[in-house]
Amino acid sequence: MSVKTVGVVGAGTMGSGIAQAFAASGFNVKMSDIGPEQVERGRKAVEKSLDRLVSKDKISVADHGAALERLEGVVGLDPLADCDLVVEAATEREELKLQIFRDLSGLVGEHVVLASNTSSISLTRIAAATTRPERVIGMHFFNPVPVMKLVEVVRALQTSDAVFEQVDGLTRQLGKEPVAVKDSPGFAVNRILVPMINEACFAYAEGIASPEDIDRVMQMGANHPMGPLALADLIGLDTCLEVMKVLHGSLGDPKYRPSPLLQQMVDAGYLGRKVGRGFYVYD
Ligand code: 3HC
Repeated sequence: MSVKTVGVVGAGTMGSGIAQAFAASGFNVKMSDIGPEQVERGRKAVEKSLDRLVSKDKISVADHGAALERLEGVVGLDPLADCDLVVEAATEREELKLQIFRDLSGLVGEHVVLASNTSSISLTRIAAATTRPERVIGMHFFNPVPVMKLVEVVRALQTSDAVFEQVDGLTRQLGKEPVAVKDSPGFAVNRILVPMINEACFAYAEGIASPEDIDRVMQMGANHPMGPLALADLIGLDTCLEVMKVLHGSLGDPKYRPSPLLQQMVDAGYLGRKVGRGFYVYD
């Protein structure tokens, strides 16, 4: 079954990036969120990112226009009923994701593959919430989606070989590199990356260095493109905290204990770039 129309659930940082990646690769996209403001914000983010690619001569003005033409913003899940593939990129909360998958399962055709961009939640549990567990899979994208090449393709215990092959091929059609990883907490990247960010929060809280200096040492001393606290702001501190909670809860090792400062920052609403304030302040 060829994929022509892709539904994306969630128009936030990751959802809008994923919607852009599909639209820019020739797919028709329906990007869904809970209200018109959220959808509009997502559309603006896509437009801004495409503007950036035009200004860098990465795409033509015509490609920019065509990608936006293929992107339709919709409210709620019902308009996704005729999609050939749905990628969920809602907030990283298990109950919410399970409900979305239950709803999608009753809405779209039985042949439709349901993918999740979850950064840490068990795909096997998500698959079990649907009527088509063999057609559920993880497509884990990285932020900023238009720039980052990797997609972790995560097989639930139930995922069929055919669905895995199909999603592997679709990822390549997006110009991205699929890597198969096991359904394990945090998969591969977040299992390694987010504890590093968490450690940077501990280091800052212990007064080892300022946020600027923590970031500078990791840029200069480890050749990271950006420091861990700036990266936390880019990812979203709420997402980082959720990943740490999943690692801590499911692996049970105290080394995954979320930094109390990270928790406090989230409690204060300092979630990073998306709200204009995290470890740094943004315009
Ligand atoms: N849309 C389009 N293009 C973008 C973009 C966006 N949103 N953001 C950056 N770019 C492009 C720029 O136009 C630029 O293009 P060029 O090379 O042709 O000039 C290029 O990316 C580099 O951007 P900048 O020059 O603005 O800035 P930097 O050189 O500092 O790079 C960065 C920015 C790409 C974000 C780089 O700092 C980086 O790679 N950081 C690490 C990102 C990372 O680790 N992401 C993974 C997060 S983990 C995750 O997402 C998983 C989740 O589950 C938690």
